[in-house]
Amino acid sequence: MEELTVEAREHTDRDGVPMTHVFSDLWVRMVQLTSGIHARSPRPVSPRTAGERSGAFRGLLQGLDQPMHLFAFLTGGNHYHFGEFVHPRDSLLHAQERLTTSCASSLPRGSRVLDVGCGLGGSSMMLSRLGHRVVAVDPSGRALDMARASANGNHGLRFEPLAFGSEQLSRVVRDEPFDGFLFIEVLQYFQDLDELLINVRKMAHPTSALVFADAFCEGPHARHGVPHHGANDLCRALDRAGVELMSRRVMTKSILPTLDRVRELLDSQQRELVEFFEESRPDVRAEIRELEAHCKHLCAAFKNGDLVYEIVTAGCTD
Ligand SMILES: C[S@@+](CC[C@H](N)C(=O)[O-])C[C@H]1O[C@@H](n2cnc3c(N)ncnc32)[C@H](O)[C@@H]1O
Repeated sequence: MEELTVEAREHTDRDGVPMTHVFSDLWVRMVQLTSGIHARSPRPVSPRTAGERSGAFRGLLQGLDQPMHLFAFLTGGNHYHFGEFVHPRDSLLHAQERLTTSCASSLPRGSRVLDVGCGLGGSSMMLSRLGHRVVAVDPSGRALDMARASANGNHGLRFEPLAFGSEQLSRVVRDEPFDGFLFIEVLQYFQDLDELLINVRKMAHPTSALVFADAFCEGPHARHGVPHHGANDLCRALDRAGVELMSRRVMTKSILPTLDRVRELLDSQQRELVEFFEESRPDVRAEIRELEAHCKHLCAAFKNGDLVYEIVTAGCTD
C-alpha cells in the first residue's frame, strides 16, 4: 500500500507573517464588525518623540513609579501592560495597542466604561477615541498626571486619582452606572475577588460587560512569590457574584515576546535611559537591573506553565 505522508507546515503571508497570526487578527476584527461592537479600530497612537521627552513630559516621566518610567520611556506610549504580538517584528507599542483592541472588542458600542487601574491611561485614551465615555481610575497621582498630559483635553475621558472600591469613588460615580469595566493587569492588587465583584455590581448596569486581561497562576504551587490569582478562581468568583462568564482566551504565546522585547530595549537603550533619568533617579542602573530580573522571572514562569495569560470576558445578567 502506498504510504501517505502528511506534512504540517506553517503557511505565511507575503511578509512572512504566519497565517495563524493573520487569522487571529482577522478574527478579532471580524468579532468587532459582526457583533456591531465597533465599526472602526482605535487610531494608533504615535510614540512620544525625543523632542516631547525633553519638553513637558520630562519631569512627568522622571517622577513615575518604578518601573513605569522605564516602560514609558522605552515604548514612547502610555501602556503599562503586555503586548499581543502577531509577528515578532511588531513594535512593543503596536502590540500593546492590539491587546487593548482585543479587550475593547467585548465592550458594547458607546459604553460608559470604568478603566480600573488605568496607569498611564493608554487604554483609556484608545477607548475614548472609539467613542466610549471613559472614567479612568488609579491611586497613583503621578501616573494620572502623565495620563492627563498625554490625553491633552481629550473629550469624554475623565481621570480620577482614586482606588477602585474606595468610598470616594462610589461618591464620585454614584449617579450613573457603567456599561463596561476594564481590568488590564490590575487584579493582583485586589486580594478578595468577591469583594471586587460586589463593588463592580454596585456600579454596574444590569447588563454590564466586564473584561479582564491578566497573568493568572496555574495550580496552588504557583502562588509562592507570585501574587496572581488563578483564572479558575476568578471564574468561580464571577459565578458567585451572579456574573455570567462569556469567554476565556488564553494568550500566553502572543504576550510572551513582550518580555524579551523589554529586555532587548533595556539593553540597547541603556545609555539613553541612564542619561535621561540619572539626575533625578540616581538608582536608575539598579532599577534597570531589577526590571530585567523581573522580566526573566516572569518569562520562566510563563514558559514552565506557572503563569498563564488570559483575556476573560463576562456579563452581568438581569
Ligand atoms: C500593571 S498596571 C496596569 C495599568 C493599566 N491598566 C495598563 O494596562 O496600562 C496596574 C495599575 O493598577 C493600579 N492600582 C493599584 N491598586 C489599585 C486600586 N486599588 N484601584 C485601582 N487601581 C489600582 C496601579 O497604580 C497601577 O497603575
